[in-house]
Amino acid sequence: MRKRNVAIVGATGAVGEELLGLLVERGFPYGELRLLASPRSAGRRIAVGDREVVVEALSAQSFSGIDVAFFSAGGSVSLEYVPHAVEAGAVVIDNTSAYRMDPEVPLVVPEVNGEEIAKHKGIVANPNCSTTIMVMVLGPLHRHTPIKRVVVSTYQAVSGAGARAIDELEQQVRAYVAGEPLQANLLPYASADKHYQIAFNLLPHIDVFQDMGYTREEWKMVYETQKIMGAPDLKVTATTVRVPVIRSHSESINVEFEAPVSPDEARRILSAAPGVKLKDDPERMEYPMPLDVAGKDPVYVGRIRQDNSLSNALNMWVVGDQIRKGAALNSLQIAEYMIEHDMI
Ligand code: A2P
Repeated sequence: MRKRNVAIVGATGAVGEELLGLLVERGFPYGELRLLASPRSAGRRIAVGDREVVVEALSAQSFSGIDVAFFSAGGSVSLEYVPHAVEAGAVVIDNTSAYRMDPEVPLVVPEVNGEEIAKHKGIVANPNCSTTIMVMVLGPLHRHTPIKRVVVSTYQAVSGAGARAIDELEQQVRAYVAGEPLQANLLPYASADKHYQIAFNLLPHIDVFQDMGYTREEWKMVYETQKIMGAPDLKVTATTVRVPVIRSHSESINVEFEAPVSPDEARRILSAAPGVKLKDDPERMEYPMPLDVAGKDPVYVGRIRQDNSLSNALNMWVVGDQIRKGAALNSLQIAEYMIEHDMI
């Protein structure tokens, strides 16, 4: 297969590292591999398959000869450098929020709206991790019977806030056990006015507060879901919560349909849905949990049951590895789709 030259912006970060592993694991046909990060990481050597690649400092000139560039170094880096990558002729798959709501930019989960990729003008956006995990389940249900309203509460792992947040949780647990004072310097987010302990705690605050008392993370789940599902009138309301879990986001989702859908019907639809795994056997205590899902590709769903308070509605529990399907894997699947359809 023809090889593609690949750039990874943010190659030293959590998502970048996962993407490098997946490129090898999935046999992605990469030719040149350009690993880009901040000047702090320039010169670092990273093993990728049987190669060792030297990390370079990102610059406007980083993209000559590149076919596909993955961006995962934060929104401001994308806003500044994506135009240079597009100018140089690369297709950009952007994992930040910079271009997600741009009407010219497809926002894609390949299993749900892969056909949107064909409309790209140089950039394809990868959705927010919690949104991707949710639409993997909503998409197939909505195709079967239109969804009217979704009420979601998330239980988001600390790794979603970066590698430093994992260190902070671990340090707090160690300090707690040693009977020492706990340090909190990072969560809910680094630039917040105050920081709270995450060990043995829950923080109902992910990203900044915006309109109506909802956080930016919560609004992302509303608008990105509507865009991906091509359903601008779909009602979505979210509460996003950081929990002391290392990896994998969990979501409690209440789905109201236009017509009745039984739990068995939902199980049948979801067990046939690509990228989704049904794990739903309460009698055997089988349901998805973040510890089991970490490092896995599919989005897991269980606890499917009738909403006891509302006809036409179901409750379910959905868990996905937010660094894999929620970020790196989804980005790579977008690139694989483009190869399959001769777009790169
Ligand atoms: P570096 O490791 O050199 O700081 P995470 O999401 O895990 O925090 O990772 C963020 C990624 O984005 C890292 O690879 C980081 O590189 C990279 N990054 C952050 N700021 C910049 C920047 N201004 N230019 C290029 N890469 C950046």
